[in-house]
Amino acid sequence: VSLQLHDLTFSPFISEETIDRAIARIAQELKRDFNGKEPLFIGVLNGSFMFAADLLKKLDFPLHISFVKVASYEGTKSSGTVSELIGLKEDISGQTVVLLEDIIDTGNTLEELYEALQKKGVAKTKIATLLYKPKAYTKKIPIDYVGLEIPNDFVVGYGLDYDGLGRNLPAIYKLKE
Ligand code: XMP
Ligand code: MG
Repeated sequence: VSLQLHDLTFSPFISEETIDRAIARIAQELKRDFNGKEPLFIGVLNGSFMFAADLLKKLDFPLHISFVKVASYEGTKSSGTVSELIGLKEDISGQTVVLLEDIIDTGNTLEELYEALQKKGVAKTKIATLLYKPKAYTKKIPIDYVGLEIPNDFVVGYGLDYDGLGRNLPAIYKLKE
């Protein structure tokens, strides 16, 4: 049962059931830590849309939800890229934020997001990710809630894409060697 997306072939890797169990566990941890605190959950588009929907449906306490996109562009200084959060209209200063990511690989994206949130004056930023590649991660920022640790394979499905395709798949597939 392999899957063809553009020029590449993928094979089944993580089932819907395994994803659901991992999300249920994260939901329990979040309930333990944030029940009564009315946190703001921020999903990082596009990849986290499915994770955010399934996770937040499992939380039964009052909370806020927003989504952002990250726009990266070259800054005027030579120190690499500058990231801007697109779509966040609320004043989030002083709030407790839980960032929802589909996957954390090197952590570059996470670090940029984290710094952008700090600049907006959030009181505390916690990180929840469905997938985490520990062997690829190069940053110091603690990742507070992890669904599943995976090896350094390229994966698609459940929000993750290969060149625009595969986000709608309810399970996760990995690139066939
Ligand atoms: P970094 O390296 O910044 O990567 O932590 C995070 C972003 O890179 C994309 N990414 C992937 N996308 N399959 C994908 O479809 C993967 O295996 C994969 N690894 C990293 C993704 O956009 C993520 O937000
Ligand atoms: Mg992508």
